[in-house]
Amino acid sequence: MSCIDKIDKSRVPKHVAIIMDGNGRWAAKRGNKRTYGHQQGVESVRSVIRAAAEVEVSFLTLYAFSTENWNRPKYEVDALMTLMVNVIKSEAADLNSNNVRLVVIGDKNSLPKRVRSEVDRIVDNLKDNTGLTVVMALSYSSHWEIINAVKSIASDVKKEKIGVEDISRELFDSYLSTAKIPDPELMIRTSGEARLSNFLLWQMAYTELSFSPTLWPDFREEDFFQAICDYQSRERRFGMTSEQIQKPNLK
Ligand code: FPP
Repeated sequence: MSCIDKIDKSRVPKHVAIIMDGNGRWAAKRGNKRTYGHQQGVESVRSVIRAAAEVEVSFLTLYAFSTENWNRPKYEVDALMTLMVNVIKSEAADLNSNNVRLVVIGDKNSLPKRVRSEVDRIVDNLKDNTGLTVVMALSYSSHWEIINAVKSIASDVKKEKIGVEDISRELFDSYLSTAKIPDPELMIRTSGEARLSNFLLWQMAYTELSFSPTLWPDFREEDFFQAICDYQSRERRFGMTSEQIQKPNLK
């Protein structure tokens, strides 16, 4: 039986974030170059977009390229940039016919011009779609994002647009690149690594974490559904007690 039959549609996470890890190891196991693993990882991207749309997740964030990934060998960075452009271009029509919207978070200014202009063009083409929003984290890291937010807040305080006393969790949220996106309820990382790697650190304060041993190029719909089932079996307490969650009217 597929795990999808066990999913309670009324409790599906609104936002699922994924660290797509293990492409290099997947390729090395087959005696291939790391870039082959990235190419094969594209099919997994298609699978999780289909799966997320099927169970009516509203936001799916994919960590496609981190700030730290710029330190990889040049041939790999170049191959990844070319792959991103090609994938975005080749999938655009399909995404559009499935009513998918695309949003990009990250330091867009650090991307090569050809990537930036293609990304901007497709994001604009899909902007009015109302189904699943795919958020691509490109040249993204939480440290970059948080420092940017702090600089903008400081500058707005200096210009007297806001006062120091206005700084709250909600205000801080509004200065992040995820300003209009709810915090993820579930984060999946593939390949057996159990760390956050500078990904949505502010936004994941109360996110449920799911670590899958599967290498990203092998990750498919069923693995995604499994993570949702596992998420639904957990009790989210947000610092409260189990009793308070189960009997909310209890004083
Ligand atoms: C991490 O695996 C993966 C990446 C840094 C790139 C992810 C990119 C894709 C899946 C390609 C296309 C994606 C989109 C959204 C267009 P790794 O290289 O760190 O693997 P390793 O840990 O085994 O070395």
